[in-house]
Amino acid sequence: MKVFVVQGPAALQGTVHMAGAKNSALKLMAASLMVPGRVVLERAPLITDVDLMADVLQRLGAHIHRDGDVLTIDCSGDLREETSYELVRKMRASIQVLGPLLARLGRARVSMPGGDAIGSRPIDLHLEGLERMGAKFTSQHGYIEGVADRLKGTRVLLEFPSVGATENLLMAAVLAEGATVIENAAREPEIQDLAAFFQACGARIAGAGTPTIEIEGVDELLPTRHRIISDRVEAGTFAIAAVATRGDITIEGFEPLHIELPLQKLEEAGAEVTRSDTSVRVRMSSRPRSIDLVTLPYPGFPTDLQPMMMVMLAQGEGSSILTENVFESRFLFVDELNRMGSHIRVEGHHAVIRGVERLSSAPVQVPDIRAGAALVLGGLCAEGVTEVYDAGHIDRGYEDLVGKLTALGADIEVRD
Ligand code: UD1
Repeated sequence: MKVFVVQGPAALQGTVHMAGAKNSALKLMAASLMVPGRVVLERAPLITDVDLMADVLQRLGAHIHRDGDVLTIDCSGDLREETSYELVRKMRASIQVLGPLLARLGRARVSMPGGDAIGSRPIDLHLEGLERMGAKFTSQHGYIEGVADRLKGTRVLLEFPSVGATENLLMAAVLAEGATVIENAAREPEIQDLAAFFQACGARIAGAGTPTIEIEGVDELLPTRHRIISDRVEAGTFAIAAVATRGDITIEGFEPLHIELPLQKLEEAGAEVTRSDTSVRVRMSSRPRSIDLVTLPYPGFPTDLQPMMMVMLAQGEGSSILTENVFESRFLFVDELNRMGSHIRVEGHHAVIRGVERLSSAPVQVPDIRAGAALVLGGLCAEGVTEVYDAGHIDRGYEDLVGKLTALGADIEVRD
């Protein structure tokens, strides 16, 4: 088991460069299954979830080559239709191959994902939308099997702007017959990135980034070279870390607009934020003021940054209320944080945080990627040595988090 040994406290200072977005890279890799040729993805983050998705694609018949942060994916050969439990269990995003396989092969067999540490994560919206496009699903022995001659364009109104469902439907619609309209679509920047990739492959898409996406199906997609957008969750993590550790961090190589609301919240808490087109500097010299926060789909406050804000507010002056609207069990890590001396009480969707002067070090256990980063941040704020167990989760979504924090002045040792 991987352990990060964090020596606190540290005031993080310096400049850090952002990697490509995990949540974009994984979907672009799945989308490459629909292109019978060589797709090149630049700025693919060096994280273990990308390795896992490469494994998924290879077992489906893709040939993949990585050279630094450039991934070449060749799906010109015959593809298989099955993604096993073993892979979906390790990474839920594997189910994003469902839409592409149905679109390209007319059939797919994908293990049903279970819940995970951040809550129950059904895929009913994915399946209902694909059914409206003509796919038929059966479920047996933990697998979903889908068949469709050629998917047909239709109108799909999503009950909730699910990121994964919007992406699966967008992917399926690109090669469907006729026009598809996705209403109440997710608006995340990663969806816009996926649409930009498809457009470069010859797809016809309008409205990505708005609640209504219109897709006119085409007969085939052409190979392309695409640069993945930067990781806004990584950028947000460092911005919050600057405030929580009372430091001064310049975050480069990303689009500050993608984290506008988190930046505004940091300003509300007392941080000094200087924005440019591709970078942002976040400075803080005092204890943060307490603020209230509600997570919502984009452009609302991202649920993925909620755990780091919790750590920051745990040392805030006064009391904060944090409301989680996207993932029901995201508060599970609060018990770990309270072991570090925070005063947080969870009541349903709400966490009431009574700020303390300083966290204190303690051994803690990582339940998922984002809570993992938050616990490392807790260790950097706390007095003494914090051992963060099961830190391998963090490598799933952050490219060299320890290296980047160390360059900003953190003292972290990695034990395998
Ligand atoms: C993606 C991101 C994740 C982020 C989340 C919300 C990836 C790999 N992961 O996850 O980091 O936190 O968006 O921004 O991109 N839901 C249903 N039925 C469905 C689909 C979703 O009820 O068919 C519910 C989920 O249980 C959850 C909510 O909708 O409560 C949001 O899920 P969704 O937007 O689909 O998130 P993911 O795509 O799983």
